[in-house]
Amino acid sequence: MADEASRRIALCASTDLADGGLAVAFDVCWRGEVLRAFAVRHQGQVHAYLNRCTHVQMEMDYREGHFFDDSGCWLVCATHGAVFAPDTGACVGGPGRGPLTKIDITEEAGQVYWHTAPTLQPVEF
Ligand code: FES
Repeated sequence: MADEASRRIALCASTDLADGGLAVAFDVCWRGEVLRAFAVRHQGQVHAYLNRCTHVQMEMDYREGHFFDDSGCWLVCATHGAVFAPDTGACVGGPGRGPLTKIDITEEAGQVYWHTAPTLQPVEF
């Protein structure tokens, strides 16, 4: 039986994530709560986070999938402008209170996968 704590879930094709471009959104069950999450590509690597700002617990993209600033280098919350590092989720500016919640993500053979954890599971329908 597969280890429930470390399943990988297919998310999208690698080509769906352009460097510094639009995010791919997905739903997760985090500590029993259904939340949006997102994946982005930054400097060639894919990263994923809960779509929940650490300033006020709300989604960060006013326009769905738009997380990067104009430079394509930083993730920005559209509400009050908190700035986060795309590779670590660390808050580097604005009113955020700590880092974004990171989701393990991998890429293999042209496919991107997110990984479950004890507190992070797929949404069951
Ligand atoms: S809710 Fe994100 S900066 Fe205020």
